[in-house]
Amino acid sequence: MAKVLLLNGSPRVNGCTATALEEMIAVFREEGIETELIQIGSKDIRGCISCRRCAELGRCVFDDPVNEVAQKFSEADGLVVGSPVYYGSPNGTVLSFLDRLFYSSSFAKHMKVGAAVVSCRRGGNTASFDVLNKYFTISGMPVASSTYWNQVHGFTAEDVKKDLEGLQTMRNLARNMAFLIRAIADAKERYGLPTVEHSLFTSFPDGK
Ligand SMILES: Cc1cc2nc3c(=O)[nH]c(=O)nc-3n(C[C@H](O)[C@H](O)[C@H](O)COP(=O)(O)O)c2cc1C
Repeated sequence: MAKVLLLNGSPRVNGCTATALEEMIAVFREEGIETELIQIGSKDIRGCISCRRCAELGRCVFDDPVNEVAQKFSEADGLVVGSPVYYGSPNGTVLSFLDRLFYSSSFAKHMKVGAAVVSCRRGGNTASFDVLNKYFTISGMPVASSTYWNQVHGFTAEDVKKDLEGLQTMRNLARNMAFLIRAIADAKERYGLPTVEHSLFTSFPDGK
């Protein structure tokens, strides 16, 4: 059975972001896709210190939920990252978490499907959405899309329940994501995964 991991970056476990993610989970259930929702927003997650020990260890030197989620992510077919907007960005916990999750883990993320979901009261949503999508697109992860921006609006979960278009966008996003996961699984059987080159790492050390 295909599996999607959903991260709630909000410290409010029953808040606006959670309401959007729950709308997706209901669709995944209908589609026969297993889900696991992980609350990261209230965890004590520090940022990356660029120690580069992960290159030797194959995991982050700070043994916290990042390493636990890395294991689950390696087994999942898709990842949904939900974040509230804080000052026009994904919140600090989400950014610290994703920096360390993506940088420290060496398993192939190639062709795992990604989707970003943001929740704001008024603004800063599209900028936050862009930031989150970049983790996927530099990792060979196809990004699932929907019928409009993957966002809901509100200050409380009750507000989001009134954002009918936002919730419709979440349902369509989950359906498209389920379809992509199945299509990729079929294509993998028929053609195998595309080759990935990794040998070049150009940082212009000669200063040119
Ligand atoms: C520190 C902080 C900063 C925020 N900054 C913004 C913002 O820039 N734009 C906005 O529309 N809402 C902002 N909000 C409101 C939340 O993004 C919004 O209420 C969101 O839907 C909350 O989601 P949650 O219930 O899942 O935490 C901010 C909230 C907090 C706590």
